[in-house]
Amino acid sequence: MTEFTLDKLPRKILSRIDLQTAFMISSCVVAAERLQVFRKLKGKRLSATAIGRMIGVRGWRAEAFLAALTAVGLLKKTGKLYSNTALTNKFFIRERSIFWTTRFSEACRREYRAFSVLEEMLTTGQSYASILGIDSGDYIEAMKKDQQWAHDFTYMLYYDHLPHAKALAKSLDLSGYHSVLDVGGGSGVMSMALVRRYKYIKACVLDIEPVTIVAKKIISKARLTRRISTTVGDMTKHIPAGYDVVMFCDAELGGVKTLKMVYDSLPEGGLVVFVDDFSSDDWTIPLYRLMWQLRSNSFWLKNRRQMVAMLRESGFKAVRSRRIYKDTWLLTGRKGLARRPRASRK
Ligand SMILES: C[S@@+](CC[C@H](N)C(=O)[O-])C[C@H]1O[C@@H](n2cnc3c(N)ncnc32)[C@H](O)[C@@H]1O
Repeated sequence: MTEFTLDKLPRKILSRIDLQTAFMISSCVVAAERLQVFRKLKGKRLSATAIGRMIGVRGWRAEAFLAALTAVGLLKKTGKLYSNTALTNKFFIRERSIFWTTRFSEACRREYRAFSVLEEMLTTGQSYASILGIDSGDYIEAMKKDQQWAHDFTYMLYYDHLPHAKALAKSLDLSGYHSVLDVGGGSGVMSMALVRRYKYIKACVLDIEPVTIVAKKIISKARLTRRISTTVGDMTKHIPAGYDVVMFCDAELGGVKTLKMVYDSLPEGGLVVFVDDFSSDDWTIPLYRLMWQLRSNSFWLKNRRQMVAMLRESGFKAVRSRRIYKDTWLLTGRKGLARRPRASRK
């Protein structure tokens, strides 16, 4: 998925956007996603009244809303009819799943609310949830309560992470290894790419139950059930042994304690793998991570240097890091000096 960064907008439109309108335009685009304007207009040319009827917006509000989307180059108006622009078809239809439209747009709304009370969060040390009197928005809790939520979230990440999975399979040398534990493995997208590249490798996706239910379906559709299994677990409590590679992709490690459990679970020569958008030393890249940290209630941001140090402190040797895709880094470390695992128990 290519990020829809502002440089994708036509220059003459971009030059008219100041910081205040940027926020309002962003809200318009997210509202359009919530109402599925672009998907409903796909391949069609319709009047404001017809679009308004489809999305439940009446009268001048529909006209003004569509004019706003036209002003930023996401809709085109020919006579009285609106249609998607090439930009919209690329970034909001072809390169995004319907799950992104539903889940990510909801996450954006939460971010807007959170950032609307940023000064208060900074000066009082309170969370935005307590300032606004809303629930904490913990995505794990949401998935545990609502299977549909887990389904959409897991599918969203499946599509979003296809390019990262491809990059991982290209970059990670697993020759000599046999079995991968994909911790917080979600849909299993990363495991799928690895077992496709290494025909002798088996993988197991460890995640919370609602996610493994979805993962099983995705893995079965991909005809990989013989090579990829799933297991329900909590990475902060237990890391099962029996794997010579333990991998975390975009999965919060949960601290040094988990890393120690990983170390103990691995055989001599076993490999720990991290794939994530680890921050630069000064935290400025990637920007979204710094923003997430800013609106969080505890400090969790780890830069690459800290991750490397943490791996070494936990006993891992031959710790390496390299950028494999956009802001995504691959970090690896080996248990002991043996180049390959001595005994693989799976
Ligand atoms: C951002 S997703 C990444 C999924 C997958 N690794 C990928 O790259 O697409 C993080 C995953 O970690 C799982 N997770 C979070 N905390 C967990 C825990 N304590 N134990 C097991 N899984 C956990 C979530 O349910 C979610 O599926």
